[in-house]
Amino acid sequence: MRPLLRLNPYFLKYRGRLLLGAVFIVLSNLFAVYAPRVVRDAFDLIGEAVALRDVPLSERTLAVPPILDRWLGWTGMDIAGRLQQVTDPDGLAATVAWLSVLLGVLYLVLALLKGFFMFLMRQTIIVVSRLIEYDLKNTVYAHYQQLDRAFYKRNSTGDLLNRISEDVGKVRMYLGPAVMYTINLVVLFVLCISFMLSVNVELTLYALAPLPLMSIAIYHVSNVINRRSMAVQREQSRLSTLAQESFSGIRVLKAYAKEATAEAHFREAAEDFRQRRLDQARVDSLFMPAIMLLIGVSTTLTIFIGGMKLIQGDPTVSVGNIAEFVIYVNMLTWPFASVGWVTSLVQQASASMERLNEFLETAPEVLSEGDGLKVVHGAITFQRVGFRYPDTGIQALEDVSFHVPAGGTLAVVGHTGSGKSTIADLIARQFDATEGEVLIDGVPIRRIDLHTLRASLGYVPQDVFLFSDTIRANIAFSLDTDQVTRERVERAARTAQVHHNIVDFPKGYDTLLGERGITLSGGQKQRVSIARAIAGDPRILVFDDPLSAVDTATEEAILRGLREELKDRTTVIISHRISAVQHADHILVLEHGRVVEEGRHDQLLERGGVYAELHQEQLLEEARSASA
Ligand SMILES: Nc1ncnc2c1ncn2[C@@H]1O[C@H](COP(=O)(O)OP(=O)(O)OP(=O)(O)O)[C@@H](O)[C@H]1O
Ligand SMILES: [Mg+2]
Repeated sequence: MRPLLRLNPYFLKYRGRLLLGAVFIVLSNLFAVYAPRVVRDAFDLIGEAVALRDVPLSERTLAVPPILDRWLGWTGMDIAGRLQQVTDPDGLAATVAWLSVLLGVLYLVLALLKGFFMFLMRQTIIVVSRLIEYDLKNTVYAHYQQLDRAFYKRNSTGDLLNRISEDVGKVRMYLGPAVMYTINLVVLFVLCISFMLSVNVELTLYALAPLPLMSIAIYHVSNVINRRSMAVQREQSRLSTLAQESFSGIRVLKAYAKEATAEAHFREAAEDFRQRRLDQARVDSLFMPAIMLLIGVSTTLTIFIGGMKLIQGDPTVSVGNIAEFVIYVNMLTWPFASVGWVTSLVQQASASMERLNEFLETAPEVLSEGDGLKVVHGAITFQRVGFRYPDTGIQALEDVSFHVPAGGTLAVVGHTGSGKSTIADLIARQFDATEGEVLIDGVPIRRIDLHTLRASLGYVPQDVFLFSDTIRANIAFSLDTDQVTRERVERAARTAQVHHNIVDFPKGYDTLLGERGITLSGGQKQRVSIARAIAGDPRILVFDDPLSAVDTATEEAILRGLREELKDRTTVIISHRISAVQHADHILVLEHGRVVEEGRHDQLLERGGVYAELHQEQLLEEARSASA
């Protein structure tokens, strides 16, 4: 139960509606427990009328059914006058029929009132649970947005999605049905039992004896059902992960002609799923019959004991009482059954809430410790920076130092896995350096407000991501809505050399990308991503291998355009191609996370080290591909 305490503020927020809901529950139950009284009176009325047949006409009297007396007395209806008629030879049947109709109408009115308040009770309590569900989803989502990349690395997308949908849904079952049925149970229990006790204590005890047994049985059965449905859910998510992967990886799958293997995998998972479902169905199908059996025992006991008392002439028991008790027992069945059900709902909700709390209590590790810098000019300094990935323990950077003045250009080259992207991640503060210090304009990056930092930074990540939206929206992503102008978006696209591609699409900048839209080529995607980075006119630009998917000639054209446009911006360009970095003011050559050489293009060539080697390799490669 403890994890669920976290929900109390929400209950407090909606306390008015919840209180109203509780009032509705009481009202609906009140009308419900009066209904069996009507049935009792109807039975007793008939019994009395039958007995009157042996009484001489002049001595016949018929009492007003008590419930009518109570409920209809105030209408001023002349019930007593009608009763005189029983002394007429034909009056008895007519009077009994008339009274029965009145009882029938009363029963109907009670049922309608009960239904009406039940409707209101659902409209308040279940609606509140939906409102809290909405609040909770938003809270969880907002928290997800605060968390850093390391968190996303640790937790799978499926898990994140599950917690915000499945787990929040389970918690809602506690907020709504569990709370509602618990209040309902208590109210109905108190009302029903006190009504029954007021009639006959002994009969009450006999009638209720099997019910606790039922609660226990149902609790155990629900536990088994829960365990099995959890197994079903696990299989279900395995099945959907499998299906989802095969759909998103359909290119690879088809390219390797692995359709049959995928089908076999799926069939196997589906078979497991079927097995679990059948296991679950088996216990499910035991559930109702078990309840029915116990109700049957209760009903039989009531009729048997009640009948015995009636025959023995116990004055406190009438035929009507037996009928009434049978109905009470049936009314109590569902609440008793729901004890087990509600208990398991609460257990599930508690487990789900624990999972949610685990995420909600995760604090982002990348935090701004104040706002030490209001305006970013763009000087970047690394002071003996080291970085170790926390989860893999891989030392990606070691003792890296450099300084780029505001407006300067730094290039980073190196073989794959040498730590280039890690440098970009540290500048964009996706992670914090584990050793040394990263400074912007001489201020430690931790002390700069994250929004200030990221608003002055254009970052083109190595793996381009475009949203399923229009090209315009993708480019204008970094801009606030009031800053988005056609000129701005187009200028960025022109600088990134992608404008001419975009206008060739029938819908131009309004072309939809992604699942429901067109697919851009790898090079086009990279250029849209560059346009996005420069559209915001940031002070610092970080390009992580931005042009790996375009040919050298286009690369040259784009870089020339960018150099013109971004003269006074600080630019960090990462590449494994020499051609992309040769014009930089300063070039770092990385190997295994360390800077092995640095300087300008010509200086590095002269040195004849790693850089010169790389240059030679790439020249040869170019010549080879040109002659091929
Ligand atoms: N998120 C991560 N978690 C754990 N280890 C990582 C992560 N990202 C990178 N690494 C490891 O850190 C090292 C440096 O990776 P990095 O991505 O910086 O290389 P890179 O120079 O950008 O390579 P490439 O040219 O292929 O892009 C590699 O050994 C890599 O396996
Ligand atoms: Mg990289």
